[in-house]
Amino acid sequence: MEYVNLYLIHWPLPRQDTYVETWRAMIKLREDGLVRSIGVSNFTAEHLDRIIGETGVAPSVNQIELHPGFPQDEMRRVDAERGIVTQSWRPLGKGRLLDAPAVVEAAGFHGVTPAQVILRWLHQLGTVPIPKSSDPRRQQENFDIFRFNLREPEMERISAMAGGRLGGDPDTHEEF
Ligand SMILES: NC(=O)c1ccc[n+]([C@@H]2O[C@H](COP(=O)([O-])OP(=O)(O)OC[C@H]3O[C@@H](n4cnc5c(N)ncnc54)[C@H](OP(=O)(O)O)[C@@H]3O)[C@@H](O)[C@H]2O)c1
Repeated sequence: MEYVNLYLIHWPLPRQDTYVETWRAMIKLREDGLVRSIGVSNFTAEHLDRIIGETGVAPSVNQIELHPGFPQDEMRRVDAERGIVTQSWRPLGKGRLLDAPAVVEAAGFHGVTPAQVILRWLHQLGTVPIPKSSDPRRQQENFDIFRFNLREPEMERISAMAGGRLGGDPDTHEEF
């Protein structure tokens, strides 16, 4: 490859306090043409405002944990206010959210699969989900979400599902 389309900082790791320095290096990679777009992952409003304040460059993308039961209303607002696209990681809860009644019932009504309901919910929230599948048929299924619309009560019911975070808290998570 001569360049990378999108390159992200994986976690802010605030205790190491090197994410601003890392962001400056990413800006240089983009200026050098090695990367088309630069972004971050698991950044909170505080982390975003620090890199934007110190470099004047906002990320294209913030990839955060976001799935039914953890709709991240506040972080979606924070990203949108700064012109940042929100990507949703672990969108299917690693497959564990596929048999939730709110999801299964919406799937039955629209004649689609539970995975398609969840990915459509994320799309209608204005986010970009990144589901993982090792199965080519499921990969195709996961792309095919643009032929139906979830109704507002279905959107609200899926957002209100019990759940919460499945992964680390960006303020305390240490990747290494
Ligand atoms: N930035 C971060 O900190 C961070 C953290 C965690 C994850 N991620 C990224 O997020 C992406 C997805 O996360 P994830 O793999 O943890 O969870 P996920 O996409 O929510 O779930 C993946 C699981 O769902 C199954 N699946 C996928 N499509 C399906 C379908 N249509 N029907 C039924 N089952 C289906 C997969 O099985 P099969 O493979 O057998 O289809 C796999 O077991 C990955 O690219 C990962 O790298 C980022």
